[in-house]
Amino acid sequence: EEIHQKEYLSNGEMKKWAGEVHEVYSPIYTKTANGLQPKLIGSYPVGTEKEAQASLEAAVEAYNDGRGEWPTMSVSERIHHVELFTGKMIAKKEMVVRLIMWEIGKSYADSVKEFDRTVEYIYATIDSLKNLDRDSSRFEIAEGIAAQIRRSPLGVVLCMGPFNYPLNETFTTLIPALIMGNTILFKPPKFGTLLHYPLQEAFQESFPKGVINVIYGRGSDIIPGLMHSGKINVLTLIGSSKVANELKKQHPKVNRLRAVLGLDAKNASIITSKADIGLAVKETITGSLSFNGQRCTALKIVWVHRSVADQFLSEFSKAVSNLKFGLPWEDGVSLTPLPEPYKIDYLNDCIKDAEEHGAKVVNENGGVSKASFFYPAVVYPVNEKMKLYHEEQFGPIIPVVPFDDVEEVIQYLIDAQYGQQVSIFSMDASEVGSLIDPLVNQVSRVNINSQSQRGPDIFPFTGRKDSAEGTLSIPDAIRSFSIRSLVAFKMN
Ligand code: G3H
Repeated sequence: EEIHQKEYLSNGEMKKWAGEVHEVYSPIYTKTANGLQPKLIGSYPVGTEKEAQASLEAAVEAYNDGRGEWPTMSVSERIHHVELFTGKMIAKKEMVVRLIMWEIGKSYADSVKEFDRTVEYIYATIDSLKNLDRDSSRFEIAEGIAAQIRRSPLGVVLCMGPFNYPLNETFTTLIPALIMGNTILFKPPKFGTLLHYPLQEAFQESFPKGVINVIYGRGSDIIPGLMHSGKINVLTLIGSSKVANELKKQHPKVNRLRAVLGLDAKNASIITSKADIGLAVKETITGSLSFNGQRCTALKIVWVHRSVADQFLSEFSKAVSNLKFGLPWEDGVSLTPLPEPYKIDYLNDCIKDAEEHGAKVVNENGGVSKASFFYPAVVYPVNEKMKLYHEEQFGPIIPVVPFDDVEEVIQYLIDAQYGQQVSIFSMDASEVGSLIDPLVNQVSRVNINSQSQRGPDIFPFTGRKDSAEGTLSIPDAIRSFSIRSLVAFKMN
């Protein structure tokens, strides 16, 4: 059933939309008389700056410079509203899950996991606030002064999530921002918009008017005006580093803007001569190709010691051929259609560029594409002249670079634009021990003999350099969307 969305939530009302709409085509192609064609699954409003500005005013009014009902409400009352919303969201689970699958091509099993992880995240965030009064308010007495130490809101939050976790990663910022008393302008991701449609009503029924407003439209049309207004207090974006930098520059008082950002990464798998190759292959396969490599936490470049390179490449290529390609609802499927229509051209371009600079696709069928499918390509030997050495490909290509001395890898990480994670594979404890400090001083997470990932969600999630700003995760996001403040009085 197609969803043609004709309303958007602004200032507590579902406003009717009769203007331009964007038609959504699923990356899951269907058979037609004219062959395989993208399937139309619905449409949503292409709002203009006028509607976005009206929603901004609604969020500003609901915040009312910190005097509004929402920012002055107790944390436990706000939690009550979030719980109400979560119950309504759970009631719409099947519809949301199916929309995740149809809009972004994620397997049905992983779409269910995304939904469940989001619900768990919300309840764990609530629990962390209930259990940790450090993060809502607590009393301290020192030097004759009694103080209530609070966490206070920051203002109006512009919240934008990514296409690869359109529900989960959006809510890892939106929910903590709401609970801490901020008001929200939420722009759903370009791919992964329709799935938020069933949730608008739940937002409307669960929160006071203006606390959450959902904006639609082309980012380039509606976002610059919001940033230029100077009325956005927090920019939160899980997405591209380039976009985040551009948006920050548009704010007239950037020193007063808080940014909570999860951005690009070029996470390295480092396989030393002492690695258990079977284990390195198994973990690097999952790390680099889960959801077709479309994760900011994915392993996006593999450094392998020259002495074990042949063995690694042969076992890795075999493991790639064992992965199941298919439609998202098929059992055990790991490689599915890619949602971004321009992605396949970009991936082909990366391969061409690597071939022109002396590398080859070394696995059978690597880089073959059909409709929205792209068969993973293992490219070797990659060097610094190639795009694949520097750029975040965010898709199913695995660039492999041989090294003789691990210092080469450390220097690569020092020079890199991004700094999120590395995975080091070695069964030699002293070798691992000697690498931990140099590595953890370049990235924000070092994985030992295991793939890179964000979870468990209770662990801090951030990055260095152009990879992140602020820290997410269950307790850390609460801190990112609030400020420590005191109410202090002298006791004598
Ligand atoms: O795309 C970036 C996400 O934070 C990846 O999360 O490691 O749980 O798949 P994940």
